[in-house]
Amino acid sequence: MTEKKSDKKFAIIGGTGLTKLENLEIVRREIVMTSFGEPSSALAFGCIDGVVEQEVVFMARHGHAHNIPPHMINYRANIKALKSVGVTSIFAINAVGGIRDDMVPGTLAVPDQIIDYTTRRVNTFFESNLSHVTHIDFSWPYNKQLSEQVFNAAQQQGIDIIKGGTYAATEGPRLETAAEIQRLKRDGCDMVGMTGMPEAALARELDMDYVSICVNANWAAGISNELITMEAIDRNLVKGMAKVRQLLAQLIAQF
Ligand code: HPA
Repeated sequence: MTEKKSDKKFAIIGGTGLTKLENLEIVRREIVMTSFGEPSSALAFGCIDGVVEQEVVFMARHGHAHNIPPHMINYRANIKALKSVGVTSIFAINAVGGIRDDMVPGTLAVPDQIIDYTTRRVNTFFESNLSHVTHIDFSWPYNKQLSEQVFNAAQQQGIDIIKGGTYAATEGPRLETAAEIQRLKRDGCDMVGMTGMPEAALARELDMDYVSICVNANWAAGISNELITMEAIDRNLVKGMAKVRQLLAQLIAQF
């Protein structure tokens, strides 16, 4: 590798629709074991679109075969593995259902808030063997500077992206009922997904910068008259992930 451009080390956590990055030239893969168990996938190290100065680490959140459902992901192992290889900053890619009118399937959004509706996930590293009790500040769950950089990179590429919004994290794996979505809407949620938490909080606990790039895969339950099908979700994700790949290339080249 030639001289590094930035002292940050970036990771991309790919979600549904992004189990691999075609524009990532992989130099090596590493299977990292952690004290919290095995992460979802081996870590792939490489560079995007030939930008060799900036090494990037890629992890497939649902496994390379996309066979780990959101409620079964070992979020602690994933974040710990990234920390252990020196990652400082995470771009998390999350598929969501759109609640707000402008969250049209196929478009991208960078949320700035979260409401956590998950119920049965291990959601902290701070459990035992503590020298003192720790509470992280999570008022603003996503890194503001990184979110701004994502937004600017999208604009430079002419990619429409919605700035801000509240992400509802649900337990899954089933999709929501129309009444549940109405409740989320009343709560002020703009999009709904199953993988945003506890991932974002765990990254904060380990002092890593974290930003989410959400891809609207469908209208959330009851928002449109159409039934939600996996075929339609897949179609919208293909469209959205093409934009995500282009956006990540622009982003990484900037650091
Ligand atoms: N609900 C929850 N998670 C999702 C959805 C949804 O409608 N679409 C993609 N991930």
